[in-house]
Amino acid sequence: MYHDPSHTCIAAVGSFVPSRVVTNDELAAIVDTSDQWIVSHTGIRERRWADEETTFDLAYKATVDLLGRYQTTIDAIVCATATADYPGFPSTASLLSEKLGVTGAAVDVSAGCTGFIYALEIGRGMIATGTARTVLIVGSERLSSVLDMRDRSTCVLFGDGAAAVVLTASDQPLWLGTYIRSEASGSKSLTIDPVTKILTMEGRAVYTFAVRAIAETIDALLEEHKLGIDDIDWIVPHQANQRIIASCAKRYGIDESKFFLNIDRYANTSAASIPLALAEMEQSALLTSGQRVILVGFGAGLTYGGVLLLWK
Ligand code: ACO
Repeated sequence: MYHDPSHTCIAAVGSFVPSRVVTNDELAAIVDTSDQWIVSHTGIRERRWADEETTFDLAYKATVDLLGRYQTTIDAIVCATATADYPGFPSTASLLSEKLGVTGAAVDVSAGCTGFIYALEIGRGMIATGTARTVLIVGSERLSSVLDMRDRSTCVLFGDGAAAVVLTASDQPLWLGTYIRSEASGSKSLTIDPVTKILTMEGRAVYTFAVRAIAETIDALLEEHKLGIDDIDWIVPHQANQRIIASCAKRYGIDESKFFLNIDRYANTSAASIPLALAEMEQSALLTSGQRVILVGFGAGLTYGGVLLLWK
């Protein structure tokens, strides 16, 4: 049965991060870097790296956290990840569906750090077409397993973690808009090399792209609804680099305090970073009913995009 796609909401959020904290000083003992450089260039102070947990374990523990906060059945699962435990198949979503006993659709999404935004739109489509009534959307990453610990320009930037949301139909039009895009260039700017299985990044090029992508996404979502930036309560960006957010805010005249950041404690957790931020905001009571919230992602592909919603 068709369901109005604007009547969809994020009903609950959960998260999980590994217990092992890795500080900048610990990395400075391995590569030629310093706490001062990392903090001043990225805003990162520490990150979590998994010891035992796989990407599936992280995803499952985030889901358990969510289900402890919000009781629901799950009809379908979409998992955004760049670091699935199995290359190709089975998907992380399939591993989750087996563990949870879910018999509806189960699929992984690969769109780099924009993966969570893409996954939301796929889940919303399932609800709109009646394929599912509740969709578990998970972002889960074990990026520590694809880092070259000799490359100081990448190994300090990334962390492990997972977070999950449940999408359901709502009786109010809470989903105001989605904007998803891909860049027709830049596919090699961010890769997990097929031979070495190591993450590579052209940092400067991605930085410039990111500032532009965030601004374009916010503008497009505001324009569609004839809203101004002052009408927005929170912008929850992909957490790649605090300086990206600061320069975007400065260049486009956005109050920096509208952006929620927790990159200082988790670094860049790719597809997990936006829901991880949402989970922290929800648990700190920063999100309240009726607030206008923009989620914005950008990353490998290159891909970017965002959603504008009213918090339930
Ligand atoms: N410690 C000390 N020095 C370092 C480090 C480090 N960890 N990393 C790089 N440097 C050095 C470089 O070697 C270079 O030295 P040189 O001038 O002697 O050659 C100098 O710092 C400047 O290098 P830049 O790359 O120009 O540094 P920049 O200020 O651009 O910061 C950074 C690098 C943090 C990677 C930045 O470019 C960035 O954040 N890029 C965007 C990353 C991003 O947004 N990724 C998102 C997507 S991730 C995904 O989709 C999976």
